[in-house]
Amino acid sequence: MLKLDKVSKTYKTGDKALHHACFEVPAGQVVGLIGPSGAGKSTLIRCINRLVEPSSGSIQLGDTELTGLNRRELRRARRRIGMIFQEYALVERLTVMENVLSGRLGYLPAWRSYFRKFTGDDIAQAFSLLDKVGLADYADKRADALSGGQRQRVGIARALEQNPELLLVDEPTASLDPKTSRQIMRLIRSACQERNLPAIINIHDVLLAQQFSDRIIGLRAGEIVFDGPPDALTDDVLTTIYGDEDWTQLRGENGSGDQGEDASGVDLMESA
Ligand SMILES: Nc1ncnc2c1ncn2[C@@H]1O[C@H](COP(=O)(O)OP(=O)(O)O)[C@@H](O)[C@H]1O
Ligand SMILES: [Mg+2]
Repeated sequence: MLKLDKVSKTYKTGDKALHHACFEVPAGQVVGLIGPSGAGKSTLIRCINRLVEPSSGSIQLGDTELTGLNRRELRRARRRIGMIFQEYALVERLTVMENVLSGRLGYLPAWRSYFRKFTGDDIAQAFSLLDKVGLADYADKRADALSGGQRQRVGIARALEQNPELLLVDEPTASLDPKTSRQIMRLIRSACQERNLPAIINIHDVLLAQQFSDRIIGLRAGEIVFDGPPDALTDDVLTTIYGDEDWTQLRGENGSGDQGEDASGVDLMESA
């Protein structure tokens, strides 16, 4: 379980990016974190693994108070937190397999991991994860030979290779087309369900967030202004989060026909 208590961040520039964020995420829950650009979504998830140092507040993962850890303890704690980035952050000249295995080492740069020995179990797990994300035949391909969707699948496999207790995901579909975006969200969602893994997914696409999250947290100017189930996201709530917009049009464009889709059904065979 993850617990945030009054987490705030003011950058050196004076930007108050986050103010008194309080919430708990139980095992297996997928939280969609929505809000306009600049609302503090990235700041919030980066405070959790302290890629951004929170200015105040408390963050607990299980029994560990993350804000109190020294460098060495933090390195160990970060291995318990998988992270999936918008830009995939793969090492281009390394193979898919090497990128996935680098997950074993948490956030160490892969050029260092390259020279380490991995156990047979690490490698077996990496193969099984590549199979799971639909890239069984890509283990030896170089990362720079893959499409955007395939790269994000590698990003997911790498995060899961850590056997994390928590998944942090920052705009995983920002560079992907709508269909690939749905495949990626479905994959993340089913991985969380299978492993009873809690996740926070920053996502600016409201419909994707609604369809693939158990719970929505809405940020506006660093404040949590909504925290509730996806179907409680009324037009009024959206206006509170994003400001005035024509929400009926937004909903109409994308249709409601696939709202009832089973998010756990993974179609891996389509190329992405
Ligand atoms: N490294 C930084 N230094 C100074 N200000 C920052 C930094 N990163 C983000 N900010 C500011 O903090 C606010 C929240 O940014 P961010 O967390 O990136 O929002 P989001 O991910 O929702 O778009 C913005 O006003 C942004 O300009
Ligand atoms: Mg962001």
